[in-house]
Amino acid sequence: MFNANSGQSVVEGMPLATLQKRKSQKWRGFPADVLPLPVAEMDFEIAKPIRDELIGMLEVSDTGYLGPIPELGTNFAAFALARWNWKVDPEQIFTATDVGVGMVEMGRTVVKPGALIMYNTPVYLNFINWIQELQCEVIDAPLTKNGLHYTLDLTAVEAGYKKGVKVHFLSNPHNPVGTVFTKSELASLAELAKKYAVTVFSDEIHAPLVYESGAFVPFLNVSDTAREVGICITAASKSWNLAGLKCATIITAHPDQRARAESMPMAVHYRASLFGAVAAARAYECVDWLDAALVTLDRNRKFVAEQLAEKLPTVGYRIPDFSYLAWLDLTSLGLGENPAEVLLEKGRVAFNSGIVFGPNSTQFVRLNFGTSQEIIALAIDRILAAVNSK
Ligand SMILES: Cc1ncc(COP(=O)(O)O)c(C=O)c1O
Repeated sequence: MFNANSGQSVVEGMPLATLQKRKSQKWRGFPADVLPLPVAEMDFEIAKPIRDELIGMLEVSDTGYLGPIPELGTNFAAFALARWNWKVDPEQIFTATDVGVGMVEMGRTVVKPGALIMYNTPVYLNFINWIQELQCEVIDAPLTKNGLHYTLDLTAVEAGYKKGVKVHFLSNPHNPVGTVFTKSELASLAELAKKYAVTVFSDEIHAPLVYESGAFVPFLNVSDTAREVGICITAASKSWNLAGLKCATIITAHPDQRARAESMPMAVHYRASLFGAVAAARAYECVDWLDAALVTLDRNRKFVAEQLAEKLPTVGYRIPDFSYLAWLDLTSLGLGENPAEVLLEKGRVAFNSGIVFGPNSTQFVRLNFGTSQEIIALAIDRILAAVNSK
């Protein structure tokens, strides 16, 4: 497990009245009477060293363009080695505005419009948008569902690869279903990718938030084949709550993939933000904060289960392996075609609707528990109220 005896004091959800003053999408995206639990932002204060660094920059009006930022590469490499025993070459670390821009800009170096890109539903809702941005076609190889546990369906993956897939967008670990893939699943995937000349774009944005140490394997640390076929695209934004600051990291581990990254326009680097890059570099040193946040999130992921058992025992929920996203099966509540819409209208509580993650998830919602237990309990109460008002 993560270090529960972290030196960082407790990281906790902020009070609702304070959060309601925030200007971010989560807190501005809905009417004031709606309790918002979609959008993967955390309701925590950011780590003090990051805050101090940003305030220090503002004090000297250090608000220009992003230039060289070697500390981002070296700090990420030190973090990756300590966390996952993954040796990253800082020379093979590149910068983009966010993970979405990284996936699209790296995508442009591999595919032309019309090419086939694979993903595995249910999956993070913007994968489809990025594929459309590349003017490519999607091939879905849905995950295999065993109860509420999902795994890669390698037979479906191979069938898709055979049709001429060029790039595979992999959510590793997999949002929204909360699954960490095993090293052997990823190794088999890498072999298939090599056989069919597919490049795997491993989106590892949630990786620092995996609860069990050793459970997560970075794709580029799986095997020589994975290093040959893979590109990692990640950011500190999910784990240290820095999404608005705008900076992501692209990592390669093979000369061919490095050449692709180097062929991206220079602008991909400097369109990231100076604040984002400095904050990300500092974040990879803030392991105490991360581990303290994980202590709170670990408690919260279990608290969601307790709340459901007490108030809505028929709702399906598998405690996720990482992050602050609960994937809830609401089939038993009989809320019609789009439960999230009913909950918003009748319960004044917002979740991501399952339908945006894939065609077979209409009865699911995604709940963000990166918040206080008061807000989680209130959200479950509002689901109950909506069900009772049917
Ligand atoms: C798997 C995954 N990738 C990417 C993102 C978004 O990253 P960015 O804002 O850096 O594009 C998210 C946000 O929730 C995510 O869950």
